[in-house]
Amino acid sequence: MSISVVILAAGQGTRMKSTKPKVLHEISGKAMLFHAIDVSKEITDDITVVLSHQYERVESAIKESYQGIKFHKQDTELYPGTGGAMKGLSYQNDKVLILNGDMPLITPQSLESLIDGDGDIHMSVIEMDDPTGYGRVVIKDSRVLEIVEQKDCTSKQLNIATVNAGIYLIKKEMLDKYIPALDNNNAQSEYYLTDIIKMAVDDGKIIKPVFVKEEEFKGVNSKLDLAKAEEIMQRRIRESLMMAGVTMRLPETIYIDIRARFEGESILESGVSILGHSHIINSHIKSNSVVEDATVRDSDIGPMARIRPASDIADTHIGNFVEVKKSTLRGVKAGHLSYLGDATIDRGSNIGAGVITCNYDGKSKYQTTIGKNVFVGSDSQLVAPVDIADDVLIAAGTTVSKDVAKGELAISRVPLKRVAGFFDKFFGK
Ligand code: UD1
Ligand code: MG
Repeated sequence: MSISVVILAAGQGTRMKSTKPKVLHEISGKAMLFHAIDVSKEITDDITVVLSHQYERVESAIKESYQGIKFHKQDTELYPGTGGAMKGLSYQNDKVLILNGDMPLITPQSLESLIDGDGDIHMSVIEMDDPTGYGRVVIKDSRVLEIVEQKDCTSKQLNIATVNAGIYLIKKEMLDKYIPALDNNNAQSEYYLTDIIKMAVDDGKIIKPVFVKEEEFKGVNSKLDLAKAEEIMQRRIRESLMMAGVTMRLPETIYIDIRARFEGESILESGVSILGHSHIINSHIKSNSVVEDATVRDSDIGPMARIRPASDIADTHIGNFVEVKKSTLRGVKAGHLSYLGDATIDRGSNIGAGVITCNYDGKSKYQTTIGKNVFVGSDSQLVAPVDIADDVLIAAGTTVSKDVAKGELAISRVPLKRVAGFFDKFFGK
C-alpha cells in the first residue's frame, strides 16, 4: 500500500509558553516531532513536514537527524489554519496520511485501523469525557456529516462528546479537489482542513468515523500535557523492557530515555535514570544512580552513582558517590566517593575512597591511564596527563604528578609532625 505522509507542525504552540518551537519539546529524550517522523518512516518514504513558526530552527533540527524529509513552508499570514497548511502540497502516492507534529503517543499499530480500507476519507474520532477545545464530529447513522470547531459550535453542538482526533487518511484526489476550495468564513478566520469533510459529504461521499484511543491520539499543547504524555511514554518504555527481561524495583520511580538499549538481564532499582543513548548489558544499577549516554556491561553501579557520557564500563564495581566521565573501565573496583574523568583503567585495579583524576587545568582536559592491578590508595590525586603502569601501589594521600613505572610504589607525603602537650597549651587546662 502506498501512502504519503504529511506532518502538520506549523502552529505557533502559544500555549507551551516557550521560546522553543512546540514540536521540538522532548518526550523521553526525543522531540515530539521526531516521534511522529519515526512512526511515518514505518509507513512510507514520502514524508512532508509543514513548518512556518521558527521554520529554520525546526528544519535544521530535522536535517540533523533525518535524511529525505521534504519541507513545506506554510504562508500563515495569507493562509492560516490546518487547511492553509495543506495548500500547495503535492504527494507521490494516492493516499495521504495527515499527522500532527504534537501527537507523540501515536504508534504504527494505533494507525492501522485508520489506514485499513479504501474509503475516500478516513477520519479518527475520540469519545471524550471532556471535549473542550476539540472540533466536534456530527455523526448520523454511523456516518460523519461534518466537523464543527469549538468556536463555531452552537450550544447544542458543544455537548457532542465525539471529537476529531485530527488525524486523517485522505485520497490525494480529494485533497486536490477540496483544499483549493476552502474558505475562511469562520470564527477564527482560518482555513480549516476539517471543512473538507462537509464538502465531501455534500458531494455524496460516505465517511465512516474510525474510533481511536484517547491515550494514543491526544495532542500536546501545554507543558502540563507534555508531562502527562511523558508519563504515558515512560510507562510504555518500562513495560516493554520488563517484558524483555529487565527487573525494576518500584518501576514508576524509574526514568528511561526512549533511545536507551538493554541486553540480557539487568536490574534497575528505584529512582534510577537511564538517559540518552545508554546501553545496559547484564548489569545492576542501584537506587538513585544516573547513567547518561554510557555503556555498562556486566557491572554494578551505585547506589547514588553518576555515569556520564562516553563512559564505557565492563566487569566493574562502582559504589556510592562515584562520578565517571568519558572513561573506559575494565574489571575495576571504585567503591566510594571518586571522580574518574578522561581515564582508562585496566583489570584488577582498585580505586580507593576519595580518589580524584585531576583532568582539567582550567584550559584543557587531559588523560589518566591506569594499568592492570594498580592499587590507588584513598584520597590520592592523579594529576593528568599521567600514566600509571601495571602492578603499581600508590600510597594513600599521594599526589601523583609524574608517570609511575611498572612495579613501583608512589608515595608523596608531608612528614608527620607530633608536638607533645600542644592541646593543653593551646586550649588551656
Ligand atoms: C485541530 C482540528 C480539530 C481537532 C484538533 C485535534 C482544525 C481546524 N481543527 O484543532 O477539529 O479536534 O485539531 O487536535 O483542523 N498547524 C499548522 N498550521 C496552522 C495551524 C496548525 O501546521 O496554521 C498544525 C499544528 O502545528 C498542529 C496541528 O496543525 O500540529 C493542529 O493544530 P492545532 O492548532 O493544535 O489544532 P486545533 O486548532 O486545536
Ligand atoms: Mg488551532
